[in-house]
Amino acid sequence: MPVNNFNLEQFIVKARQAAVSQNPIKAAESLLQYTVADCENVINHMPIIAECERMLFEDDTVSIWYCRFEPSTVVPAHDHKMHVVVGVYQGTEEHTFFDNSNGIYKEVQSISLGAGEVEKLSPKQIHTVTAKNTASHALHIYLGKLSTVERSLFDFESGKEIPFTLNNYEKLAQIP
Ligand SMILES: [Fe+2]
Repeated sequence: MPVNNFNLEQFIVKARQAAVSQNPIKAAESLLQYTVADCENVINHMPIIAECERMLFEDDTVSIWYCRFEPSTVVPAHDHKMHVVVGVYQGTEEHTFFDNSNGIYKEVQSISLGAGEVEKLSPKQIHTVTAKNTASHALHIYLGKLSTVERSLFDFESGKEIPFTLNNYEKLAQIP
């Protein structure tokens, strides 16, 4: 048995501490890098979560989520209006980033984020997400209160930025 088994409650405590530290982005990044570096440990000790996404904790400073993406679905283009740090512990997340600064949506970068890898997203970054081959599992630390912030979805067909609501989200979700 490893000396330090992954413990979700302890992870939440550390993520909350990171969010109120002097450099929250760096602290959240370091915590996730340390955590997912031992993916097997997380896989073996993470509780089974049936839903694709679950909020594990939230206050005014931080929102901590479990996120599972499926290769059968592309999460529609959206922003977060706050800094986010993503740590993948199983499978591979595929992110595509877009720029719309001149009113036209343009793909600017695609990355594959495999198990053990961490990525930082800035508040205005627009991305779509799916998983490669099999479901991906990750811990996401949002440096703010995600449930109350007014985020946007981006409809590439109409060129419109629309409110991030469940209805709009389901309308835009793509099956590749
Ligand atoms: Fe996102």
